[in-house]
Amino acid sequence: MKILIAITGASGAIYAQRLLDQLDTRAHTVHVVQSQYAEAVAREEMTGGIRLPAGAKTHGLKSMNAPFASGSNPVDVMVVIPCTMGTLGRIAHGISDDVLLRAADVTLKERRKLILVPRETPYHLLHLKNMELLLSAGALILPANPSFYSRPQTVEAVADTVVARVLDHMGIAHTLGTRWGAEPE
Ligand SMILES: Cc1cc2nc3c(=O)[nH]c(=O)nc-3n(C[C@H](O)[C@H](O)[C@H](O)COP(=O)(O)O)c2cc1C
Repeated sequence: MKILIAITGASGAIYAQRLLDQLDTRAHTVHVVQSQYAEAVAREEMTGGIRLPAGAKTHGLKSMNAPFASGSNPVDVMVVIPCTMGTLGRIAHGISDDVLLRAADVTLKERRKLILVPRETPYHLLHLKNMELLLSAGALILPANPSFYSRPQTVEAVADTVVARVLDHMGIAHTLGTRWGAEPE
């Protein structure tokens, strides 16, 4: 698959890191683009910021040379993780003045999978209206809401309860966490 991981300046860089760590860059083409704020917030949250996997292809925000900037070469799945309310709003309103936003626009118009992992609390009405617009345009809203029934013992395990659901929706097999009701192997 051709995969684009877009990282924005919401709290929760660990979600992006744990997702990137799960992606096999030999099996998939993995592109990464970060918003201007993403790196600064990630450095606040994790020593050294985001560690990109070997083999991932990175793109500058203003680099319209990225293949997925054109509908002729879309990715199969784009994940915005974590997704700010700002980026979510811009995508919902078709603003596409950098490569991250343009890629989301292309992903929607070419009917590929766009997964948004928003992180904000509480929501106001515009956040929810923007999510409604995105849902009606075909995006999947998968909030960064961890679950606890598996009794995660580490921050990473908590984050993985969200990342596991992202991988499920990307169609990528994984062994993160335990599935409710699954028989032990
Ligand atoms: C420490 C820190 C944490 C932030 N957390 C969030 C957040 O969880 N959700 C959000 O929507 N914005 C959050 N922001 C604000 C965004 O970073 C800011 O609105 C930025 O302009 C978003 O730009 P981007 O969407 O291009 O990344 C945070 C900012 C800082 C400095």
